[in-house]
Amino acid sequence: MTQIAVHPNGPLEGTITVGGAKNSALKLMAASLLAEGEYHLRNVPAITDVDYMGELLGCMGVTVTRPSPHEVVLVRGPEVGNEAPYALVERMRASIVVLGPLLGRTGRARVAMPGGDDFGSRPIDMHLSGLEQMGATFEVRHGYIEATADQLFGARIVLEFPSVGATENLLLAAVLAKGTTVIENAAREPEIADLAAFLNTMGAMVIGAGTSTITIEGVEDLEAADHTVVPDRIEAATYLAALALAGGEITVDGARPDHMDMYIQKLGDMGVRIAPSSSGVWAMATKRLKSVDVSTLPYPGIATDYKPLLVTMLSVADGVAIVTENLFAGRFKYISELIRMGADIRTEGRHAVVRGVDRLSGAPVQASDIRAGAALVVAGLAAEGETVVAHAEHIDRGYEDLPASLRSLGAQVYRRDG
Ligand code: EPZ
Repeated sequence: MTQIAVHPNGPLEGTITVGGAKNSALKLMAASLLAEGEYHLRNVPAITDVDYMGELLGCMGVTVTRPSPHEVVLVRGPEVGNEAPYALVERMRASIVVLGPLLGRTGRARVAMPGGDDFGSRPIDMHLSGLEQMGATFEVRHGYIEATADQLFGARIVLEFPSVGATENLLLAAVLAKGTTVIENAAREPEIADLAAFLNTMGAMVIGAGTSTITIEGVEDLEAADHTVVPDRIEAATYLAALALAGGEITVDGARPDHMDMYIQKLGDMGVRIAPSSSGVWAMATKRLKSVDVSTLPYPGIATDYKPLLVTMLSVADGVAIVTENLFAGRFKYISELIRMGADIRTEGRHAVVRGVDRLSGAPVQASDIRAGAALVVAGLAAEGETVVAHAEHIDRGYEDLPASLRSLGAQVYRRDG
């Protein structure tokens, strides 16, 4: 088990460069199942989830190597396997994204049913119903989804909710389907637009990604391509939260302010001076934060992934805030850890009432998932004494080396093997 120890030490200062988005890189890698050839992905974060996806694709016959720290090369031969085993899917739910490309390319897939996770059950009914509308049939046997489709056909699919994963799976299936697919109420995340841009470079015909209506004209074949992964808005948000909690002045190079509009607006409302800079986002925090209400929504609303960071900031802000979670009902687990650090937070169903306290108090706490873990690390910057975040391996799934990144801004954050 890895631990991260945090000591508060005054204002942060400096410039940090944000890496490529985990939630784009994983899907771009899965797209390699669609066509034979050699793919070069740049700006890929060196995180555990990328290694897991490499392993998963490896067991389907794609050779994945990393010639330099942020470059991944995938070589997909003439044949691909079509089974995603439980041992790998269970480690990373994003593995489900291989279903669409496998069906589109090979007409079959055997993918382990993903289980629940630490923030509640996460169904895949929309993925399956959309693929069914395109002609796929499914059976669930022995914990596996067995999917078949001799030929996928274009269809008009209206999603009940703009699910990121369902939009991606349908997009990845539709590029090789016969005819036109229209996905209505599609998720609009920048990572979806990034995936569509990559698919278009591979020869696909996708229009409208990044909006609620995506139109895909199926093509006969695709070819391998190169791509640079879009910057990680959640990683950028983490550095900005660290600044808001510790004070100081930083620039997050490479961050795309236009991908983080609502988060930037909230930080501004909380009293952080924040603005786009020529290279990313500049921010300065000099006084106590002010409370604001927060409600998570699909993009471009406040991402559920920002929420643990926002709750942490609100726990030391001046005033009372109501935080509402609209995406993952159970995503409040880290709150009991913040309470152990002296936060005054009450939860009721999807809502949390956060009464700001002057200062948190360092304590041993546990990371339950990537974002919860990162939030507890930055909480330590606003706490008296030492905070030790256990199970930091969750954090390493999504952040390359969070302690080193925060140290580069002047924070005292260290990894410990526990
Ligand atoms: C993606 O998960 C991200 N993961 C999550 O980031 C992120 O929190 C989430 O989108 C929301 O932005 C990856 O990209 C790998 P959804 P995903 O399908 O695709 C319900 C991180 O830490 N739903 O948009 O699984 C679902 O239960 C991770 O980086 C159905 O009901 O999210 C949830 O309530 C954590 N049926 C809502 O939709 C379905 O078939 C949104 O889920 C699919 C989803």
